[in-house]
Parts: sequence; C-alpha cells; structure tokens
Amino acid sequence: MNVRSPGIHFLQIPGPTNVPGRVLRAISEPTIDHRGPGFADLSRSVLTGLKRVFKTSGPVVVFPASGTGAWEAALVNTLSPGDAVVMVRTGWFASLWSEMAKRLGIEPIILDTDWRRGADPAAIEAALRSDRERRIRAVCVVHNETSTGCVSPIAAARAAIDSTGHPALLFVDTISSLASIDYHHDDWGVDVTVAGSQKGLMLPPGLSFNAISAKALEASRKATLPRSYWDWRPMLDANAGFYFPYTPATNLLRGLEEALAMLEEEGMPNVFARHRRHGAATRAAVEAWGKAGAVELQCQAPSDYSSSLTAVRLADGHSADSLRALILRRFDMSLGNGLGILKDRVFRIGHLGDFNDLTLIGALSGVEMGLKLAGVPCGEGGVDAAMAVLSQFSDSI
Ligand SMILES: Cc1ncc(COP(=O)(O)O)c(C=O)c1O
Repeated sequence: MNVRSPGIHFLQIPGPTNVPGRVLRAISEPTIDHRGPGFADLSRSVLTGLKRVFKTSGPVVVFPASGTGAWEAALVNTLSPGDAVVMVRTGWFASLWSEMAKRLGIEPIILDTDWRRGADPAAIEAALRSDRERRIRAVCVVHNETSTGCVSPIAAARAAIDSTGHPALLFVDTISSLASIDYHHDDWGVDVTVAGSQKGLMLPPGLSFNAISAKALEASRKATLPRSYWDWRPMLDANAGFYFPYTPATNLLRGLEEALAMLEEEGMPNVFARHRRHGAATRAAVEAWGKAGAVELQCQAPSDYSSSLTAVRLADGHSADSLRALILRRFDMSLGNGLGILKDRVFRIGHLGDFNDLTLIGALSGVEMGLKLAGVPCGEGGVDAAMAVLSQFSDSI
C-alpha cells in the first residue's frame, strides 16, 4: 500500500523540471482546432517568441517529440549516408547522440574528454585541420552536459572551426541550457540548435525544437539521409502560414505560449542571473560538504560550471544511488542519477526552470541531511554557505 507523502514533492532532477501552475492551467484549457484561425494566432505567437529565446532571426521548428527527436531531425535533414561528423564526447548525452549518428549511417569521429569539463576548442580545430578530404560535415557539441554539469564554449567552438577554413556545420544541443544559460544561435554561428520543452522552458516533456541557419537549410537541399516525419521542408512550408503538416501538440503549444510570456515578464537577463546565482550557491554548499573528503564537484573546470545543474561526486565506497534512495524515502525529494560511467558515482541537483532561493535551500537541506543519515563524511555548513551566497545578491539579481 502506498503511504501518503504530505507536502510538496521536491522534483530536483535536472529535467523534467517543475511546471508552474500558470503553465499547467494554460495546458488544461480546451483543445482547439489545429486548422482553425485561433490556432494560427497561437502558432504565430509561439514561433515568434521562440526566436527571441534562441536569439535567432531564422526559423525554429517544433516537433511533438522528446529532445531525442530533435537530435535526429538535425542529423537527417543535413547529412548523407557515409558523412563524418565530429562528436565531442563530454558525457552521457553526447555519447547517445554519437550512437544515434552511427545507427543512421553517419561516421562519428569522437573527441573524448574526461567528463569533468566542457569541449576543448583546440581539439575541434585539430580534428578539422586533419580532415584534408573534407569528409566532416558537422561538429556536434552538447552546450550543457546534463550528466556532468559542464558547459562547453560554443562561440569558441565556432571560432575554432572558422580558423581552419573548414566548411563544417555546427550543431549544438541546448536541451538543458536553453532559457537557463545565455545562448545565441545567430551570433555564435550555430547551424542547428537542438532543444526540448521539459527543462528551462518549464513545460512537461513532449516538444522539441530545431533552430535552423541559412547554411543548414542549404545543406538540407542536398542531404540524402531518408527522412519523413522529421523533414524540415513540409514543416517550414506549413509554418509559413502558421500551421503544421500534421497534428501539432496543441495544448503543449498553449503551455509554451504561457511559459514564453513568463520568461519575458521576468526578463531573460534576470532568468540567466537567477540560474547563475543558484549554481554558485549550490557549489558553495558542495565545497563545504567536501571538506570531509568524501564529496566533490564532478565539474573540475571553473570556467565550465553549469548554472542549471550540479553533479556531485562521491568518494569510492559510497553509493550515490543509495543516497538518492534514502533522500527520496525520507524527504520526498528526487535527485538526478549518475549516467554511464558515472552510475552510482554521482548524484545531480537540478536548479533550473521555475525555481527560487527557498526551493534551492530546501533542496540543499535535504541533501545535507541525507549525506549525514547515509553516513557519508560531510563537512559542516553547506546550507549556510549557500545562504551566504544567496544573501549577497538578495536585492538584485
Ligand atoms: C543534454 C541532453 N541531451 C539530450 C537529452 C535527451 O532528451 P530527451 O530525453 O528529451 O529525449 C537530454 C535529456 O535529459 C539532455 O539532457
């Protein structure tokens, strides 16, 4: 028999994130006719609002799919069988994207990292310089590696590509950074940006996005990988009149309209500053806990710290999965698990989406109590250290 858990469940995984009541209410409005005039108004508002979030003047297409669908759309619209792509393997999600490329008949050229930092632009530059036959069609980078809490420098990755004179496209996964960490599709020279609804955009899972550059669109005219559902062409044609080529996820789109309005009301610079502040406060807590030697940040490069999640690594002999299970049982809080080579080694604290100072302090209190209950040696004062960071910024973000 399930025992009732009083109070609010703390959903502190790095996505799906907490969906604000305003967005849930918008989604619960009656479903509308997706071929009627009301839908074109909704679609116009959403497709224009998305451009402001991706910071692009080009098209953004919306698929009724999880983020994985948008990965596939980026590849199948621009590439042909046998093409090579550089995949910077910064963590679990970058690994999954390269596995997908292989299954689609693309050859991934993998640039490995130790999963404790972001992509190295010098390694990208070297890979392109050695590609004398110009087989590489694209460089794929995950902006914010959700498995490690490390951010990759996208503008520097583009500069590295350009410095070689190589025509490779740049594809970027922003699934756990869009609307949490500042991002510039146009100014950073990105060709396809991949995103999903369930993290910074504060929606349930179910929508995914491609922002598309003119160069990527041009590549899609010559690309020969088979595509149908993910084909940009019919989508862009229908979107020109603010309709979709198949039944769109109407209620989620209405939720998206509301979420975009909320982001604009807060102001995007404030949204990014709030995430930066919560990342800094969380790291202050981890550093204090780490004074006893059993807890440390997974990300080891301060320039690459993520503002949307923190992956916390436990010393050998301690199980991150048992700790998470204890915290769920005792405090009704879900934390992210370790993925791939980090299984049972790290747990992840999501601090993105609809989130404020007191939610963060509640989450960190649960972790601090959990560490002590689990017998993980834990330095004192992690929550105090986080509060000290938050109070430094109390009146302005
Ligand atoms: C960075 C990143 N890429 C890709 C994915 C896969 O997205 P989805 O699970 O929505 O298909 C995720 C999911 O968490 C992610 O965090």
